[in-house]
Amino acid sequence: MSGVEGVAAAVEVIRRGGLVAVPTETVYGLAADASRPEAVLRIFLAKGRPADHPLIVHLPSAEALPRWAASVPASARILADAFWPGPLTLILKKAEAVDPCVTGGRDTVGLRVPSHPLTLAVLRAFGGGLAAPSANRFGHVSPTTAEHVRRDLGDRVELILDGGPCPVGIESTIVDLSEGEPAILRLGAVTRGDLEDVLGRSVRVAIDGPVKAPGQLASHYAPCAEVEVVARDRVAARAAELATTGVRVALIGSGRDATVRVPDAGEGYARALYAALREADVPEVDRILVEAPPRGPLEAALIDRLNRAAAPRPPR
Ligand code: TXA
Ligand code: MG
Repeated sequence: MSGVEGVAAAVEVIRRGGLVAVPTETVYGLAADASRPEAVLRIFLAKGRPADHPLIVHLPSAEALPRWAASVPASARILADAFWPGPLTLILKKAEAVDPCVTGGRDTVGLRVPSHPLTLAVLRAFGGGLAAPSANRFGHVSPTTAEHVRRDLGDRVELILDGGPCPVGIESTIVDLSEGEPAILRLGAVTRGDLEDVLGRSVRVAIDGPVKAPGQLASHYAPCAEVEVVARDRVAARAAELATTGVRVALIGSGRDATVRVPDAGEGYARALYAALREADVPEVDRILVEAPPRGPLEAALIDRLNRAAAPRPPR
């Protein structure tokens, strides 16, 4: 469903404690009423996701922060003012009332106001918080179209609100503000430079430290075929090399020889990447070669996602 009717239907399903896939500017989310543990549990079952992985709670506006966070530091206000609605998640100490099944038993909660108009309309009409991880099976590539959600989750989700392809295409930046020193737990379209400019201080990147955000497992955001990231000037040579060994290759890149073409600029590349990984991921392909992302502000986030897609993992 889409449009105004879709919004009303989505709110109804959420009020009943059901699951709705919603478009956000980053990726599609699998949403349920964050204040109903039995609804939140359904998210974990539908995704096949371990229960200790915390969920992001999506809010209609920053005004709802005090309901979900035990305290709202000045840095959170500043970042919310600058980047919400938008692709930024803030980790804050959780309010007493937030159920532990949302936070994976932690004393912190992830909060974000998304900017997609349909989902903002759902949030405003619903009024509460929506717990929503990416709407894919656990460990798989995040969905950036309604069709991706349908293929991953099928009838495990009651309603898919179709808002078209996600304009950002990779998951939100996550900033931990729960311990004073701000730290980036996941890179995204709001860059370290953006955060530092607004906060007027340096911001640590903590994505390779001890696993604080369980979504930051080494292998994540992954298709079934193996993924190998190749420097731009090495793509043709590497494809030829693999062809002689009998490995069946698909190439994601910006050149004419690519199996799936992606734009040659950071934003376009990010928007197209997950759909390209899914399109290249067919049984006839053993390995997906991905041309390294273009230079620019999104490069670090894109390299992070590609490394996770390429990390060795146990067979599924
Ligand atoms: O762009 C996004 O953030 C999308 C859309 C739907 O909003 N959501 C998303 O959710 O990517 P998910 O569940 O796939 O990834 C959320 C990440 C996970 O790595 C999780 O561990 C981390 O956020 N996270 C959530 N709450 C946390 C907390 N309290 N402390 C640390 N990490 C947290
Ligand atoms: Mg996810």
